[in-house]
Amino acid sequence: MEKQTITATDNRTGKNVELPLVASSHGAFGIDVRELYKGLDLLSFDPGFMSTASCRSAITYIDGDAGLLWYRGYPIEQLADHSSFLEVSYLLLAGELPNAAHLDRFREIITHHTMVHEGVLKFYQGFRHDAHPMAIMLGVVGALSAFYPDAMDVADPACRMTSAYRLIAKMPTLAAGAYKYLRGEPFIYPDDSLGYIENFLRMMFGLPATPYKINPVMVRAMETIFILHADHEQNASTSTVRLAGSSRVNPFATISAGISSLWGPAHGGANEAVLHMLKQIGDVKNIPQFIARAKDKNDSFRLMGFGHRVYKQYDPRARIIRKSCYDLLDDLDIRGNPLFKTALELERIALEDEYFVNRQLYPNVDFYSGIILKALGIDTSMFTVIFVLARTAGWIAQWMEMMAEPDQRIGRPRQIYVGQTQRDYLPLAER
Ligand code: SDX
Repeated sequence: MEKQTITATDNRTGKNVELPLVASSHGAFGIDVRELYKGLDLLSFDPGFMSTASCRSAITYIDGDAGLLWYRGYPIEQLADHSSFLEVSYLLLAGELPNAAHLDRFREIITHHTMVHEGVLKFYQGFRHDAHPMAIMLGVVGALSAFYPDAMDVADPACRMTSAYRLIAKMPTLAAGAYKYLRGEPFIYPDDSLGYIENFLRMMFGLPATPYKINPVMVRAMETIFILHADHEQNASTSTVRLAGSSRVNPFATISAGISSLWGPAHGGANEAVLHMLKQIGDVKNIPQFIARAKDKNDSFRLMGFGHRVYKQYDPRARIIRKSCYDLLDDLDIRGNPLFKTALELERIALEDEYFVNRQLYPNVDFYSGIILKALGIDTSMFTVIFVLARTAGWIAQWMEMMAEPDQRIGRPRQIYVGQTQRDYLPLAER
């Protein structure tokens, strides 16, 4: 059996150290660099973690070159075509697709955890009416820590599972609450007779005065968006969840940290940033100048919704959601709408432009999800909140996986110090 190691040599001293390899079931192996520090007093250095594995995980697999995305081994294309968000949530948590009885039981549990304590709803009143709903979400989700003392026992798998149910179930209620508060409309309570997506849409768009009519086109588009956004390996927000959760803080505070990271325009905030960019471009005739700005190193402008840290081929989610986007624009007969015309022309130009082609900058999932959500009449400020609803399933699954590790320990990266070496204090009179 060949040695499952590599040898690292410090050429300054000629000292060697054997670094064990960490086997994968598919994709790249890892190098266990813990011996590097012990044996050669050297740290690994990888800003942005471009080639660093932070953990072993069995939940999601991405191959950026081949454009693959699997949830527990199932290709995202098959799940988008045949599954539902609740079934995908079960899959991410349990590791296997549920049978009918398991799915019914899971659906029943989630349905009966959708309400929140009335005290939570009072938090909304403290926000200005122009507060960004992501500010509300990271506040109220973190505040759930004050309402479930039993959730504090993160060492107990049963408590962790209950928190998982509560978070997946309550996110739509909290998100719809943020939307209602911003619009000055009354909160709509969950309706246990409705499905997960239907319930969310009714809490968002329903009004006390009139019965809410479920739009199946909207439900399917939202179900697809939720499935595609449910998990995505160790992206910035999931890594934030793992690092925050590694201190053994309660799951509500942990997920609130993930919400904070996802809000950034370089990450989940990109879908909202796409719409702001399309409005900024305004008209198809202005596209060339914005393409030029995106290429200009002296200009911080980037094409929102383009590029990806891992996918250097087409984001497989973008290929799926692109079809949903085009179908929806045709269903609603709004391809001619100036905003959507600009989006589709921008997509065409970028896919032909050598700057983008050479850097493998393709439209990502956020480019199309932003367009779909806009076409569905959802406020731009709610786009990343929708991403939070979907990604909560993945965050929780990743947190559960980490907390179940027998050797789970707090994450604490080191650094390469480049500051002043030791020096003595100088009295004020001598400075
Ligand atoms: C998500 O990680 C995940 O999995 C995230 C996510 C998930 O599901 O969790 O997939 C969700 O966050 C998708 C990405 C959404 N973000 C955006 O759409 C924002 C716009 N995209 C960029 O900011 C950027 O592409 C990133 C942040 C997505 C990726 O950045 P990288 O990997 O650090 O890429 P880079 O900065 O090294 O860029 C490589 C080159 C650079 O040019 P050169 O220095 O080689 O000349 O490409 C250029 C960049 O300037 N470039 C862009 C660009 N993205 C990269 N140029 C113009 N427009 C862009 N969007």
